[in-house]
Amino acid sequence: MAVVIGGTGGIGAALVAGLQAQGFEVLALGRRTQPALDYTDEATVAACAQHVAARLVETDLPLVRLIVATGFLHGQTAGGHNAEPERSWQHLNADALQHNFLINAIGPALVVRHFLPLLPRQGCCVAAFLSARVGSIGDNALGGWYAYRASKAALNQLVHTSAIELARRNKEALCVVLHPGTVDTRLSKPFAKTGLQVRPADEAASDLLAVIDALPAGSSGQFFDHKGLAIPW
Ligand SMILES: NC(=O)c1ccc[n+]([C@@H]2O[C@H](COP(=O)([O-])OP(=O)(O)OC[C@H]3O[C@@H](n4cnc5c(N)ncnc54)[C@H](OP(=O)(O)O)[C@@H]3O)[C@@H](O)[C@H]2O)c1
Repeated sequence: MAVVIGGTGGIGAALVAGLQAQGFEVLALGRRTQPALDYTDEATVAACAQHVAARLVETDLPLVRLIVATGFLHGQTAGGHNAEPERSWQHLNADALQHNFLINAIGPALVVRHFLPLLPRQGCCVAAFLSARVGSIGDNALGGWYAYRASKAALNQLVHTSAIELARRNKEALCVVLHPGTVDTRLSKPFAKTGLQVRPADEAASDLLAVIDALPAGSSGQFFDHKGLAIPW
């Protein structure tokens, strides 16, 4: 079985279709699914995990793919503010920072808490969290986008730490951070006009699934791009 959290987003929906084409039974979870999963309410994350646990028992299938495809770059925050990526420290705003951290780091941390225990205790399985190259501190030469960069860096640390704990439960389980490349979705749309090269979501999903399928033993806790190349932290 495969679970895609954020399975109703641009890349998430393409990942759901790609996993189905690979023959997986796929459960897509998001704010508009039944049950719904919303990071602003941890109880919904817990309830969705219980729903998945029940489905695993019913089908007698192991959870071998858990993909977290949620994320936030711009738009309405939980505090009612319209957030844009900051071009300067002058634009730093507590509400926008909080929302970026909530969706990009705290929400996935709640997924770690409630969903990683559902992975099998033996045999190969993969938990993959979509982050962004701009979350790399080592790769940051341009500056700007403070909240998105910092919240993705926090996500990277959370996933790396989770991979260490996961290895104590199942040595064959892999837990990685992935950068999808620049993809034509709602998230990238406002920035496409600046001449950014964007790829269709189905192409990005197929690249990401190929990277996941080819992850070598010992790659848990690492950060890869859509070509399978390691990205510096
Ligand atoms: N597109 C790119 O060029 C690009 C580049 C680098 C990294 N990424 C990363 O790739 C991932 C997927 O992005 P995308 O381009 O597919 O963006 P997207 O189409 O905007 O999808 C964002 C997803 O996040 C979910 N989400 C937002 N707020 C949420 C909340 N409160 N609770 C639960 N889920 C919530 C959305 O759920 P709903 O469907 O319910 O709205 C949606 O599934 C993100 O982590 C993003 O940072 C994207």
